[in-house]
Amino acid sequence: MTRFWAVVPAAGVGRRMRHSLPKQYLPLHGRCVIEHTLETLVNHPRISGLVVAIGVEDSYWQDTAFAGHPRVQTVPGGPERADSVRNGLEHLAASAGDTDWVLVHDAARPCLLPEDVDRLMDQLQADPVGGVLGQRVRDTMKRTDAGSRVTATVERSGLWHAFTPQMFRLGLLRRALDTAARDGVAVTDEASAVEHLGMQPQMVEGHAGNIKVTQPGDLTLAGFFLQQARHHERF
Ligand code: CTP
Ligand code: MG
Repeated sequence: MTRFWAVVPAAGVGRRMRHSLPKQYLPLHGRCVIEHTLETLVNHPRISGLVVAIGVEDSYWQDTAFAGHPRVQTVPGGPERADSVRNGLEHLAASAGDTDWVLVHDAARPCLLPEDVDRLMDQLQADPVGGVLGQRVRDTMKRTDAGSRVTATVERSGLWHAFTPQMFRLGLLRRALDTAARDGVAVTDEASAVEHLGMQPQMVEGHAGNIKVTQPGDLTLAGFFLQQARHHERF
């Protein structure tokens, strides 16, 4: 039977958050950001195990609730997110098969709902490529020059925000990230590496609350979505 695994890049420093603590360790509703993130994945019955990429200078991970958890293994992170993910995939290859699915999910997205994970799995498990949780763009989109002057209004239909998890088969994803690295193509998500191989990942509509904590203020928003999830079980 094909299995599902999760790889969680958590080796960033959160520069845009402008806080002395890396954002994945900032407090949120009595826990830290990454504890909320991992909670959903660790408790998901269809996920066989998790690999978390931790920064080499990180001294906070060991104090989280998931350090030493039997379903959670760690690897050292790399200089870029893609490097951290590649380290996680390499580690996973010791226990997972090439056709097993891997869900790569940002540590900085603490509001992931289990039903979004299920929707991704259900819609993609027979897919030849794999795909990405996201949301269709709602606003009118503008392209600008360096001075923020509008140069064009971009057709909105067919535009999406790409979230995580991004789900691909282990063998394909390793090949995609290796190829992108070899070709010197900077990839900010797994899908772009797969696209670089000439394949077309599938977008799967997810919940808008699955935000990435990126800038000051996002924590308040994440707190709101977590509270909503608790009170209503879903948004
Ligand atoms: N990440 C990682 N290894 C890196 C860089 C990022 O594992 N070398 C992880 C982050 O910890 C985060 C996810 O990738 O969970 C998404 O990246 P991003 O939001 O860019 O986080 P940071 O790089 O930490 O933030 P910033 O870009 O503002 O510095
Ligand atoms: Mg970054």
